[in-house]
Amino acid sequence: MTKKMLLSVFLLPAAMAFAQQYGGMWIPTELNEKEMKDLGMKISAKDIYNTQKPSIKDAVVQFNGGCTAEIISPKGLLLTNHHCGYSQIQAHSTVQNDLLSNGFWAKNPEGELPNPGVKVDFIVDIKEVSNQILEGTEILTEPELTKKINKNIEIYKNSQKTEPFQSIIVKPMYYGNKYYAYTIETYKDIRLVGAPPQSIGKFGSDTDNWVWPRHTGDFSMFRIYADKNNKPAEYSKDNIPFVPKHYLPVSIKDKTENDFTFVFGFPGKTTEYLPAVGVEKIMTDIDPARIAVREVALKTLDEKMRTDSETRIKYASKYASVANYWKKWIGEVEGLKKSNAVEKKVMYEGSLVAKNHEIKSTLDQLYKLYNDQAPYALNNAYFTEVIKNAETLKLAGDYYDYIASVEAGRMDEKELTTLKTKLTTFYKDYSAELDAKVTAKLLALYANKTLPQFLPSGFDKYKNETQNITVIEDMSKNSIISGRTNVNGTSLTADIDKAFSNQDKLIKTLKKDPVYQLYVSMKETYMKIADPQFTALQTKIDALQKKFMAQQMETDKDRKFFPDANSTLRVTYGKVKGSTPRDAVSYGYQTHLAGVIEKYVPGDYEFDVPKKLIDLYNKKDYGIYKDKTGDVPVGFTATNHTTGGNSGSPALDANGNLVGLNFDRQWEGTMSDINYDPRFSRNIMVDTKYILFIIDKFADSKWLIDEMKIIK
Ligand code: ARG
Ligand code: ASP
Repeated sequence: MTKKMLLSVFLLPAAMAFAQQYGGMWIPTELNEKEMKDLGMKISAKDIYNTQKPSIKDAVVQFNGGCTAEIISPKGLLLTNHHCGYSQIQAHSTVQNDLLSNGFWAKNPEGELPNPGVKVDFIVDIKEVSNQILEGTEILTEPELTKKINKNIEIYKNSQKTEPFQSIIVKPMYYGNKYYAYTIETYKDIRLVGAPPQSIGKFGSDTDNWVWPRHTGDFSMFRIYADKNNKPAEYSKDNIPFVPKHYLPVSIKDKTENDFTFVFGFPGKTTEYLPAVGVEKIMTDIDPARIAVREVALKTLDEKMRTDSETRIKYASKYASVANYWKKWIGEVEGLKKSNAVEKKVMYEGSLVAKNHEIKSTLDQLYKLYNDQAPYALNNAYFTEVIKNAETLKLAGDYYDYIASVEAGRMDEKELTTLKTKLTTFYKDYSAELDAKVTAKLLALYANKTLPQFLPSGFDKYKNETQNITVIEDMSKNSIISGRTNVNGTSLTADIDKAFSNQDKLIKTLKKDPVYQLYVSMKETYMKIADPQFTALQTKIDALQKKFMAQQMETDKDRKFFPDANSTLRVTYGKVKGSTPRDAVSYGYQTHLAGVIEKYVPGDYEFDVPKKLIDLYNKKDYGIYKDKTGDVPVGFTATNHTTGGNSGSPALDANGNLVGLNFDRQWEGTMSDINYDPRFSRNIMVDTKYILFIIDKFADSKWLIDEMKIIK
């Protein structure tokens, strides 16, 4: 933000604030029923959310803490994305029995595969509890404020009666201006029922990720199992399919542009109410740093994965998740520029200040804080991303925390078991040689991009990438963390229990480990030089952001505010719609099977198509799944305001029937997390017709269709 821009903010007359659509992720107990009905909704808000009788919310769950899933049969059949079930599908895969490549379809319930550790959460109740949680906090500042709020949350939770399989979480909304309590019911026996091969479920892979027009059949199916009383239970072969209070009928009616749709799910995180300067920092500092780190990691992984099948399977899920946000951030930066997000915010702030001059002081302070924080925030972004993507360093971090916990006398059996399980899972899909290469390159990036005052002394020696490769490979060879040297007579990759059997020896060896020592030098320098400043400034920013949020809500009476996404259940609504994202480019709202064939590249790792699907296409064997064009619809876009976590969310029609499965957004609109823009922001869904077509015609799994209620 330049001085000139800053000045112009406060000279803008209020009248210049322009009308704008803001998107919206609404709490199900506070729906804009009238607007939804005006847009075409035929059901009522009570049909969507009701604690007194079955409603649509009873069919929507959070899948394993991240994605969303929905129940589509009276026998607990669960639909979510392929990329949401990806690590489960991968976990059942080996080189010989590669479910990622071949797909998987249970022939009957007995053939469904258990997934220890996977859970789904139902929302049983939502209550606003702001008064209880904010009681006695009016005059407090940090750190007392957080302490008091946490205490109030504990008191509230303890005052509530819950079943053993229920829990309560309390979440801040509007940056802590309000609080909501959620009663949650968790089911833990979740079995894999079906997944198409990657060449359908991940068709287009990273090239098409975040891109429209899209032809991915991004779905997989699970089933919830319960005990004999239909209640949550740990996995047991005696468990029975869960009987839901409500399940979604599946519509295979044709879609038309402007049809009403709503998406019901668990959006993870958005920041729609930042000041312009906050948006600018993301756009010019934070996102570019993260992109740079991931670019290096991905390139190195990709070279190996393309030539080695074992590495390809081992790193498939990790690679996809690193690539996912790498690409999203690139789109986000582009979109923020193109939608003039910063200028728009500057204008908006001007209009707010014109109505309420007190806001100027809040903004001035925020501007100063963001600028003061900038170098620390940049170091935080690099440090965090480098450690995350250099796997041995990340592992060293786990051992560092372990030692700290042991030395503080905090480590108990349970924590130790959790750590050992985590490590075992990690080492199963780990290649030390490959990681040494990634780490070497990331260290060079870190050494070159970090201001000297933030680097450990002598870190200059890591500036040369080629040299690092030899140095780090040597370190890795002599490290127990990489699993290439032994401790307690074994390696950490071969036998975790034995490696941990003599704790003193393990800790002594770790402290002398070269990779561990490298990590410690980076971590301790970061914690000493950057983190205290970064965190102290962030605390001040958070307090002012809370104030700025409240001021926006008090001042802009014409705007309907919704709280930023925070992984709680939300409804967003809009219309089926194409878009015109660039000059002379216009996108239709629907793709078809013919488009899959157009993109087909035989043998390609992203665009291969299974032979059976080609046969079905050639024979036009579409059954009841074609639309008015005679082709099978594959994907469609709409104006629903979604974000990460909404993957797997049901897209419903005016009557509350399932018409699509949300899985992505269009690249030109991914800045919707910060600046939703109705011109470019579109969510992408798999069409229910394609899902049913694949299950029925491709997978010959009619028994699953027979469980569903199909609306023709
Ligand atoms: N972009 C989508 C989301 O954020 C889909 C990601 C999975 N696909 C992939 N190629 N990585 O989750
Ligand atoms: N693909 C995202 C998810 O996994 C959805 C999005 O960001 O639009 O939740």
